[in-house]
Formats: sequence, structure tokens, C-alpha cells
Amino acid sequence: MDTPSLRALGRYPRPVDPGTMKFTSPLDEIVALRNSCRSYDGLPLGDPERGELMDFIAALPAGPFGSAGRLEILDLDEFKSGAHKLGTYGVIRGAVTFIAGSAVPDEKGFVDFGFRLEAVILRATDLGLGTCWLGGTLTRDAFAAAVGAPEGEIVPAITPVGRYAGKRTIADRLIRWSAGSRNRKPWQELFFDRDFSRPLAPESGGAFSFALETVRRAPSASNKQPWRIVLGAGGREAHLLLQRSRGYNKLIRAADLQLVDMGIAMCHFELAMREQGVAGAWSRTGTDPCPLPERTGYIASWRSDA
Ligand SMILES: Cc1cc2nc3c(=O)[nH]c(=O)nc-3n(C[C@H](O)[C@H](O)[C@H](O)COP(=O)(O)O)c2cc1C
Repeated sequence: MDTPSLRALGRYPRPVDPGTMKFTSPLDEIVALRNSCRSYDGLPLGDPERGELMDFIAALPAGPFGSAGRLEILDLDEFKSGAHKLGTYGVIRGAVTFIAGSAVPDEKGFVDFGFRLEAVILRATDLGLGTCWLGGTLTRDAFAAAVGAPEGEIVPAITPVGRYAGKRTIADRLIRWSAGSRNRKPWQELFFDRDFSRPLAPESGGAFSFALETVRRAPSASNKQPWRIVLGAGGREAHLLLQRSRGYNKLIRAADLQLVDMGIAMCHFELAMREQGVAGAWSRTGTDPCPLPERTGYIASWRSDA
């Protein structure tokens, strides 16, 4: 993976106000509750939830690499005619309200976008609402126009937001089945100790156990779970890597959804550390943290302060 723009970023000075990204329920409950909802009740999102989400978005910090594109709540009704015909190719039923955003289509933009939209999705889950990441099945240009994406930015993905319909549609059940939605890879395939030769058992995660499990349960495009985490020797560092799925980026050319997945993983990781009261930050060094297997690239390292 060619990532010169992010090489040697150093420690990113990203002050995150502890008053932001606040949730009502504990993170593990929110993460367990979130799943991809593809059937909604057909009503626009009302207050107080809409107001809560708007406040959350307004206070949302920049992503870990410092960029912050637009994030907008949109109602389908307003865009029914003309060029602004929003749609999701029939995958989603009964959704009226969406959250869409824009990003510069480079590594930094996709990762930061994934981080920020996932934070909003977790807040929506916290409010009892259904969501579903959509990166492949949307009218991308129409959403870009609707969010007012500046020149040079695209809409990598969107999510409907609203109340669950009582019953899952057959299309919903089929997609869940084919994406293996309930399945997550075991720890030993995702997490490692110092390098890729030593798989990590769930009882060996130390101070990072909760953060790693929170990443493991995160959503990813086609449930590919491309994140890998290698823990550093001193127990204070965790290195995030992207193991690309073979042929995946040829499928959806407009956006690099596996980089969006990296931002989602960073969001889950950081929120887990914050909830445990451990301060730290993401940074990126000039060299890879360990020898990398094929199709694998270095994204960033989390370093705890104490
Ligand atoms: C970046 C991204 C893009 C996605 N795009 C789509 C999509 O286009 N259509 C869809 O039905 N699901 C999409 N999904 C949902 C995933 O299939 C789903 O998150 C995964 O199978 C895990 O299931 P869960 O969300 O129920 O835990 C996407 C997820 C992510 C993270």
C-alpha cells in the first residue's frame, strides 16, 4: 500500500475534549446492540433524537489524522425530484432519514470519515435507533449533491437512521446471511503480540483487552474485518494494520471502503480506551512496526500516556 502522505506524521496533536463523544449507555452495550438495520418504519427521524444527533455531530472532533468533512442529516422527501434522487438500490426498506458526509478521497480522508461516521452511528444506537453503513449500494453522486460536498470531495458511505420496522425483510435476512453478519474472526486471526508470528489469545490482551474486543465486534464492509492489531513490547503500544481482502477494491472503485473500515476500528479502539480512563493518542512512525505479511499495510499506532 503506497501511503506517503501519512508517513512520519509524528504524534498527531489532536486535542479531544473529554466532553465530546459522550454516550448514555456503556460502550460494550452499545457495540453489542449495533447491527445493520435494513428495514425501517417509514417515518422521518423526529425529536428529541434528531436534535441529539445534530448536537453530537456539531461537537464531533476531527478524525485521528485531523480531517473533518461534512456530516449532514438528510430527509429523503426533500430530494425526491430532479438530479437529487437519493436511493439505496432497494437494499434498504422504509428509510426516510439518512446521515451522509463527504471526504477527500485519499487515505487520510477515508480513515477520518470512517472514524467520525462510526462515532455518530454508535450515538444513534445509544439513542435506540437503527443504522446501516452503506458504501456499495447508494446513488453516490446524488448524495454528494445533497450534502453539498465541496469540489474534490466524495461521499464514501452513508447510513439510514430511524426506527426499526417490526420484522426483517427477506432481502435483509439474505444480506445478513451472505455477509456472515453475526460472525467475527477469532482473536488469533486478528490480534498479535509483537509480530505476526505470535497470535494473541483473548486472555493476553492486557490493558488493551477491552479495546481489542471492541474492535473485533465493529462493522466492516462485507464483514471482511480487514483490521489487524499488533501489540508492542511494553504494553503501551498497539499498531493498527490493514490486511486487504483479495480483489475487494476492484468491486467498489469510487471509495476505498477498507480504509473506511480502519477509521471504524480506530473509533472503537479510542472510545474503549477513553471509557477506561486511559489517555493516549494515535501517531505514525516512518517505519513499519514489524515485518508485514502480503497485502498488509501499516495505518497508525496507539500509544497510551501511562
Ligand atoms: C464501510 C462499510 C460499507 C458497507 N456497505 C454496505 C452496503 O453497501 N450494503 C449493505 O447492505 N451493507 C453494507 N455494509 C454493512 C456490512 O455488511 C455489515 O456491517 C457487516 O456485514 C457486519 O454486520 P453487522 O453490521 O450487522 O454487525 C457496510 C459496512 C461498512 C463498514
